[in-house]
Amino acid sequence: MKVSIATLLLCVTPCLSLVATETSNAASSFKDHSASIKEHRGNYFQGRPQQHQFPHRDHRKNVYIRSSSNETDDISAEFLAGIKKANHGGTLVLENGKQYVIGQKLDLTFLDDIHIQLDGQILFTDDIEYWQNNNFFHPFQNSITFWQWGGNDIVIQGKGEINGNGQAWYDGFARGEILDPNNQYLRPALFTAVNATGLSIQGITMRNSPCWANFLITSKDIYYDDVLIEAQSINKNLPKNSDCWDTYNVDGLTVTNSRVNIGDDCFSAKPNTTNIFLQNLWCNGTHGVSMGSIGQYPGVMDIIENVYIENITMLNAQNGARLKTWAGPNIGYGRINNVTYKDFYVDNVDYPLILTQCYSTNKTECAKHPSEVNFSNITFLSFSGMSSGKRGRLTAEVICSPNAVCENIFMEDIDIHSPAGEPAVVTCDGVTGDIGIDCVAANSTQARDALATTIDSGSL
Ligand SMILES: *[C@@H]1O[C@H](CO)[C@@H](O)[C@H](O)[C@H]1NC(C)=O
Ligand SMILES: *[C@@H]1O[C@H](CO)[C@@H](O)[C@H](O)[C@H]1NC(C)=O
Ligand SMILES: *[C@@H]1O[C@H](CO)[C@@H](O)[C@H](O)[C@H]1NC(C)=O
Ligand SMILES: *[C@@H]1O[C@H](CO)[C@@H](O)[C@H](O)[C@H]1NC(C)=O
Ligand SMILES: *[C@@H]1O[C@H](CO)[C@@H](O)[C@H](O)[C@H]1NC(C)=O
Ligand SMILES: *[C@@H]1O[C@H](CO)[C@@H](O)[C@H](O)[C@H]1NC(C)=O
Ligand SMILES: *[C@@H]1O[C@H](CO)[C@@H](O)[C@H](O)[C@H]1NC(C)=O
Ligand SMILES: *[C@@H]1O[C@H](CO)[C@@H](O)[C@H](O)[C@H]1NC(C)=O
Ligand SMILES: *[C@@H]1O[C@H](CO)[C@@H](O)[C@H](O)[C@H]1NC(C)=O
Ligand SMILES: *[C@@H]1O[C@H](CO)[C@@H](O)[C@H](O)[C@H]1NC(C)=O
Repeated sequence: MKVSIATLLLCVTPCLSLVATETSNAASSFKDHSASIKEHRGNYFQGRPQQHQFPHRDHRKNVYIRSSSNETDDISAEFLAGIKKANHGGTLVLENGKQYVIGQKLDLTFLDDIHIQLDGQILFTDDIEYWQNNNFFHPFQNSITFWQWGGNDIVIQGKGEINGNGQAWYDGFARGEILDPNNQYLRPALFTAVNATGLSIQGITMRNSPCWANFLITSKDIYYDDVLIEAQSINKNLPKNSDCWDTYNVDGLTVTNSRVNIGDDCFSAKPNTTNIFLQNLWCNGTHGVSMGSIGQYPGVMDIIENVYIENITMLNAQNGARLKTWAGPNIGYGRINNVTYKDFYVDNVDYPLILTQCYSTNKTECAKHPSEVNFSNITFLSFSGMSSGKRGRLTAEVICSPNAVCENIFMEDIDIHSPAGEPAVVTCDGVTGDIGIDCVAANSTQARDALATTIDSGSL
């Protein structure tokens, strides 16, 4: 018997044990999970979305603004006026079939109970010169943004799109990565929230961001449902650093039922992100669902905690589930604690499951200057599918930094295969305690043999 996810979400602990009793004679993998995880972690931590009470109004005033007549017809002044008019209980309507071109940076951090009915297209100008000199800057990874949204109770919904006009940026900065210290050019994120409490984004498409699609800063109770995020280039200059969701000091983030077609992280929790709930995501061509990297900046404490991730389809990716923290001299500290990945399907993924405390360092360096970010209570349940074979028969890798805290790392039902053949091999180094399944050291003969069967798919 398979218990539906909907049922599980409504369940509290007594309900779980009832399910377990009912199915005790059936071949129920669920029962086995709950029993062994309870034993392992003391408690079965079932994730659920954060709750936020958005104000309800029977009538909302609709506000309309002029749309653009062509792609250089900048309506940002009208947009700002419309936002001000719709603030405090109204709705700004951006109509189907119409285009709204934004050519000036907009500070929208004064919001309080506003809806945006986005059925048309918001298009940013691709005047790189202008945006280099006019933007909102955030020191984390030298981020900039076209606009910033903040305040309370912001709802953006509809069938329309926010379009970053990314091609000029992909062409202009074809060689520049944001983490490259010699790169002076900054590329804006498509959507940025700062100091927002209660933000819901539903139904829309976010297309061709020059850089990250969503950067969420110092905010609380954020929801994304039914969004599509895509970034595509028309030539060989591919979109770079096109992460879909990056977070910084965020508490309470729920992302559900969404599709992603980009070339970088499908999801990436960055410093100080707590209470994350992800469910039903489809990611194609990405770098996976990542926790981190954190622990990068000297003396700074970063935390990622209380994360529940369920039902992810991960296709043609570099990583599936990934947790990464920095090691080396001059690094930060913190912890990644209480993270569950459950029901994860991979196809053509280089590293289907990778946990590393040695990000950006080699083995010697990582042993000499271990990570100061603790890993604890990390659970991987029910993984299935095929790797790309790039790591040969290695399908899951746990690389804990020697002398760092890395405990209660637990896996169950890991059924990932490799086109390189059988048996699939899981490596684990530096973990305190066992990880629930058979694993070998990365320098063991089994692991070396498994890696030697590498298939270079060449596609990633
Ligand atoms: C990890 O989980 C165990 C068992 O629930 C708990 O005792 C421990 O405090 C947790 N670790 C952290 C860092 O919270
Ligand atoms: C774009 O629209 C604006 C406003 O209607 C107009 O002034 C301008 O000439 C148009 N530009 C082009 C290239 O059509
Ligand atoms: C966010 O809030 C902090 C603390 O209140 C304040 O210092 C900062 O200026 C705010 N940022 C923005 C963009 O409003
Ligand atoms: C899992 O997510 C996919 C979308 O990627 C969705 O089609 C499917 O219905 C979800 N499964 C469950 C059990 O909700
Ligand atoms: C998935 O991404 C690959 C490139 O990574 C692309 O060729 C393919 O069309 C995408 N599939 C879908 C269904 O979008
Ligand atoms: C994360 O939160 C901790 C504790 O509140 C704080 O000391 C630290 O500066 C925060 N880290 C970042 C990167 O803001
Ligand atoms: C672990 O995280 C989940 C959310 O994913 C939360 O419901 C649970 O309370 C957390 N456990 C502890 C011990 O804080
Ligand atoms: C990491 O673990 C060490 C040893 O248990 C502990 O002293 C330290 O407070 C932990 N750090 C964080 C940020 O939780
Ligand atoms: C490891 O990294 C350190 C520091 O960057 C470097 O000095 C050393 O040569 C590297 N060792 C190997 C084996 O690559
Ligand atoms: C593997 O590494 C461990 C320590 O990292 C070392 O003790 C052991 O000898 C190595 N084994 C092989 C086969 O190289």
